[in-house]
Amino acid sequence: MATIKLKINKKTYSLEADPNMPLLWALRDLAGLTGTKYGCGIAQCGACTVHLNGAAVRSCSLPVSAVGDSEVTTIEGLSKNGDHPVQKAWEEVDVMQCGYCQAGQIMTAAALLNQNPNPSDADIYNAMNGNICRCGTYLRIREAIKLAAGMK
Ligand code: FES
Ligand code: FES
Repeated sequence: MATIKLKINKKTYSLEADPNMPLLWALRDLAGLTGTKYGCGIAQCGACTVHLNGAAVRSCSLPVSAVGDSEVTTIEGLSKNGDHPVQKAWEEVDVMQCGYCQAGQIMTAAALLNQNPNPSDADIYNAMNGNICRCGTYLRIREAIKLAAGMK
């Protein structure tokens, strides 16, 4: 066990954790931020996606000790009132089914638009390819990302 300081959603947390603990565990079990979901645990589904300095990472496969001073952003911290362009577009297109994969989908989409405000269809496909949705919302996800890109 060690005391690990993490910057999450612009707040500093001091967490008692095994340095090898995956960031996802620290977020959900120690910081109480349960918006980020556990899917596969082996970096294959994207459900656990959060941002590290604005880029999408899989928190199930990143040890807390590797986060260092990087800013972690979870779905809870993406915007104050759920009004990030991606969230607004998601609502407008009515993307969600069961919702389980959606925090990860939204975080991946938001990271894509951070890096590329006007993604082509191929850019969207490539960025979102590793986020699995068992409800099959892929077409609506693509439509919402295009809508969000237009809002920025
Ligand atoms: S839970 Fe992390 S990629 Fe599936
Ligand atoms: S909305 Fe159900 S898994 Fe994606």
